[in-house]
Amino acid sequence: MSIKAVNIKYIYNEGTPAAVTALDGISLEAERGEWVSVVGHTGSGKSTLAQHLNLLLTPSSGTVSIDGARVAPGSREARDARRKVGLVFQYPESQFFAETVREEIAFAPSNWGVGGAALDACVAEAASSAGLSPSMLGSNPFSLSGGERRRAAIASVLSMKPDYLVLDEPTAGLDASGVRGLTATFKDLCSKGMAVIHVTHDMEIAMSMSDRIAVLERGVLAVSGTPERVAEYLSERPVKGLVMPPSVRFAQGLREKGVRVPLASRVSGIIEALEEARSRRGR
Ligand SMILES: Nc1ncnc2c1ncn2[C@@H]1O[C@H](COP(=O)(O)OP(=O)(O)OP(=O)(O)O)[C@@H](O)[C@H]1O
Ligand SMILES: [Mg+2]
Repeated sequence: MSIKAVNIKYIYNEGTPAAVTALDGISLEAERGEWVSVVGHTGSGKSTLAQHLNLLLTPSSGTVSIDGARVAPGSREARDARRKVGLVFQYPESQFFAETVREEIAFAPSNWGVGGAALDACVAEAASSAGLSPSMLGSNPFSLSGGERRRAAIASVLSMKPDYLVLDEPTAGLDASGVRGLTATFKDLCSKGMAVIHVTHDMEIAMSMSDRIAVLERGVLAVSGTPERVAEYLSERPVKGLVMPPSVRFAQGLREKGVRVPLASRVSGIIEALEEARSRRGR
């Protein structure tokens, strides 16, 4: 069971002098239970790709399939599929419209006819999964802090009980504890079988949390694969705007000194390689 984009091309203002090719031949797949990060410099096409996965945008060419079914725009399958994919926008304010956080979170399920105690339970569960305190349910979404708004936006998407969660820069502008809290929440959702497609500039999070990473560069897929494969690629051929995390830079420095270590984001991997090298020398 997966969400799969194959050879997506997307042109804004197609057929006009203002045409911009934002995506050019992008393929990406995320299985349920997996964390896939999409990284790239500003303007590389990350948000455009996120909106294709949620079927808000229709590709100029290429296909999106959800759980094996190819989704044609405007079809009944597309409406069903959209319920399976929750998108948290880059700017959470852009999705708020209600007077209270509770109404925001309740909107989708109440539209589907959930009401009474079942609706209350659904709102409470979504708020709790997003790490949002119940005391905030009565607040106006615009009165919340940046991190709380992010959590409210995530809860309002989780109330749809999606199988695929697409998050567009969910940790941007948060402090370290806010980032830790949210990434732990996403990991937990993955372990419950949800796919997380995480759009970010933050290589530290992408390298340490993802099963796989896709790197976009001016609308093209520069490389995709495991964090280790992507680190190997980027160390040979850096992509503008992507800064490697300190652990990978440390491993690169060791390699320059002739020590063979993996370009891992997990320091434990580097330490193991160092211990192995030491025991080889000792033999
Ligand atoms: N509504 C639009 N109309 C025309 N061009 C657009 C529109 N939205 C995005 N673009 C262009 O498409 C390209 C990809 O934009 P996109 O927003 O997907 O990039 P991004 O990787 O999400 O950037 P950021 O990191 O700044 O959020 C850019 O060249 C951008 O200028
Ligand atoms: Mg963006």
